[in-house]
Amino acid sequence: METIIAIDGPAASGKSTVARLVAAKLGGTYVNTGDMYRALTWVALRHGVDPAANPGAVAALLPGLALEFRLDAPGQPVLYLNGVTVPQAEIRAPAVAAAVSHVAKIPEVRTWLLARQRDTRSLGLIVMEGRDIGTVIFPDAPFKFFVTASPEVRARRRLLQAGETADGATIATVAAEIAERDRLDSTRAVAPLKPAPDAVLLNTDALTADQAAEQIAQTVRTRG
Ligand code: CDP
Repeated sequence: METIIAIDGPAASGKSTVARLVAAKLGGTYVNTGDMYRALTWVALRHGVDPAANPGAVAALLPGLALEFRLDAPGQPVLYLNGVTVPQAEIRAPAVAAAVSHVAKIPEVRTWLLARQRDTRSLGLIVMEGRDIGTVIFPDAPFKFFVTASPEVRARRRLLQAGETADGATIATVAAEIAERDRLDSTRAVAPLKPAPDAVLLNTDALTADQAAEQIAQTVRTRG
């Protein structure tokens, strides 16, 4: 089956875990668009660019970059930047998390990534997660889900993800970081975080990741 399953939602809502499970259940390919924004943020920081202060310098880096997912093994695309694998530990570091929403609101960045994200269509059954997949990247996707969870549950989940939070982080500091990212993501002018009008809302507070993924997979199996 060739189809697109768009899974959007705020930071630490559990959508990555859920999207990965959905892809496994349906035999599809999981694509994490957040990793693309994180990879660009990581490169900008390595060039000494502060994305909040100097968005123009981030945009100026784009022509020298080649960013793409390659299907090294079935169902598991690997992100490459200028021919080299993007290191997961580095793009999930707290410094990248703190700067990524500033990169994500730069219009040139979004335009540049749009084509690269649409290109993944050639990979077959795609489970793509992000903030604007159902609204901007694939507005015609037959399956759209918006995954949410309460701020406290999200802060707890993020704290459990080793390496993504600063040493000594507490529920309160993580919740504040997530809230700031939500604010930036939802209020930006280009492709703000919001559910597509035809998205199914899925609150995962009381669901395990597997239960949430099963609900999505079941919807696709019955309607697909
Ligand atoms: O994993 P987490 O939920 O923390 O975030 P992510 O999915 O890795 O995305 C990191 C950041 O990239 C988000 O906070 C957004 O600022 C941006 N992003 C976006 O603007 N549009 C997307 N489709 C995906 C991510």
